[in-house]
Amino acid sequence: MSRAPKAKPEAPKPERMVDQDRIGGDASAENSIRPLSLAEFTGQRQVRENLALFIQAARSRGEALDHVLLFGPPGLGKTTLAQIVAKEMNVGFRATSGPVIARAGDLAALLTNLQPLDVLFIDEIHRLSPAVEEILYPAMEDFQLDLIIGEGPAARSVRIDLPPFTLVGATTRSGLITRPLRERFGIPLRMQFYEPEELQLIVSRGARILGMELTDEGALEIARRSRGTPRVAGRLLRRVRDISAVTGLLVTDAEAADRALTRLEVDRLGFDAMDRRYLSCIADHYGGGPVGVETLGAALGEQRDVLEETIEPYLIQQGLLQRTPRGRMLTDTGYRYLGLPVPATPARQLDLLGNAVPLGADLFAGDVDA
Ligand SMILES: Nc1ncnc2c1ncn2[C@@H]1O[C@H](COP(=O)(O)OP(=O)(O)OP(=O)(O)O)[C@@H](O)[C@H]1O
Ligand SMILES: [Mg+2]
Repeated sequence: MSRAPKAKPEAPKPERMVDQDRIGGDASAENSIRPLSLAEFTGQRQVRENLALFIQAARSRGEALDHVLLFGPPGLGKTTLAQIVAKEMNVGFRATSGPVIARAGDLAALLTNLQPLDVLFIDEIHRLSPAVEEILYPAMEDFQLDLIIGEGPAARSVRIDLPPFTLVGATTRSGLITRPLRERFGIPLRMQFYEPEELQLIVSRGARILGMELTDEGALEIARRSRGTPRVAGRLLRRVRDISAVTGLLVTDAEAADRALTRLEVDRLGFDAMDRRYLSCIADHYGGGPVGVETLGAALGEQRDVLEETIEPYLIQQGLLQRTPRGRMLTDTGYRYLGLPVPATPARQLDLLGNAVPLGADLFAGDVDA
C-alpha cells in the first residue's frame, strides 16, 4: 500500500491489506521502474487519453473521479495506472484485493477510513464474495453504506454516509465480473498487449534507471520477445543485464541481447519453455484438441488460472491457439510453430469452422471450456 504525498492524518490501517503484485523476488526491482505519472506511462494510448481527459474534468470540478474498471491480462499496467490515477488526482491511495475482503465488515472498515476523493484500488475484483459486492453497490452509487448491526431480533440496519471516493477495480477476467458490478463503473478501460515499439521505449527507460548501457536495437530485441507485456519486458531486461554483467559486457547490443534471451530459452517470437510445453502437450497427447483446460492443467501440473490468465491470452493473440466451446485447439499456425505437419482431418476442419470462437472475441470472457 502506498499513499500519495499529501498532508493528512494517517487513518488506521485496516487489517490484511495487500499490494497485489504476483511477482515474487523481483518485486522491488519491478517497483523501481514503475512509471509514476501519465506522462511517463508509455503505450495504451486510448486508455491514457481517456483517463487524462476524465481526470482533468473531475479535478476542475473538485469532484471525485468516476469509478474506473481496468481489465486485461496480467502485467500490462493495471496496478500502475491505479496508482497514477491517485497521483494525478492528488489524492490518497488505498489498495486491497478481492479475495482478502472476506466479510462485509472488512469492506466497511476500508470505506469508512477513506478521506474525501481518495482512490480505493481493488485488485482481482472478480473475486469479491457476493455479500461484499452487495455492500459495494450503494457505496459506489450513492456513497452510502448499509450495514446490519447485531443479530437475531436485536439486529438493526444502519446507514452511514461515506466521503465521495473513486473505486478503481482491476481484473484479468472481465467475463467473471457480475453485470450489476460492471455497470456501476463509469469508466471501463480495456488494456491491450503492447506493440514492440512501445515496449522498446519501456525497456530503454528501464535500462536507464538500472544504469545499464543498452543500445536501441538491444532494447527492441528484448521488446520483441516480451509477449507484448511490460512486466515480462522488465523481467527479461533484468536477466539480460545480469548476463551482460557476469560476462563483462559493457554495452548490450541486439546480438548480445539475442544470445542472452536464447540462453533464457525465450525464442525469437517471445515464446518460452512453458509455451512450448503447453502447445506440444495439445499436439502430442490430445491430437491438437479440442481439449478441456482442466485436463491440460492436470497434464502440465499447472493451475487452470495460470493457463487461462498468463499463458493462453498471448498464444491466442498470436493465433497459435483457439478457444472453442469444446476446449482448446491448436491452429495451423500453432502446428507450424512446432514444426509439425498441419493435419487435415475432416473432424478438425468442422470444429474450426463450426464451433470456433472467432479471433478477437473477448479473450477474457467467461470460460467456454466444455
Ligand atoms: N506503460 C508502462 N510503461 C512502463 N512500465 C510499465 C507500463 N505498464 C506496466 N509497466 C511495468 O510493468 C510491471 C507490471 O505492471 P502492473 O503491476 O501495473 O501490471 P498489472 O496489470 O497490475 O498486473 P497484474 O494483473 O498481474 O496485477 C511494473 O513493473 C510496471 O512498472
Ligand atoms: Mg496488478
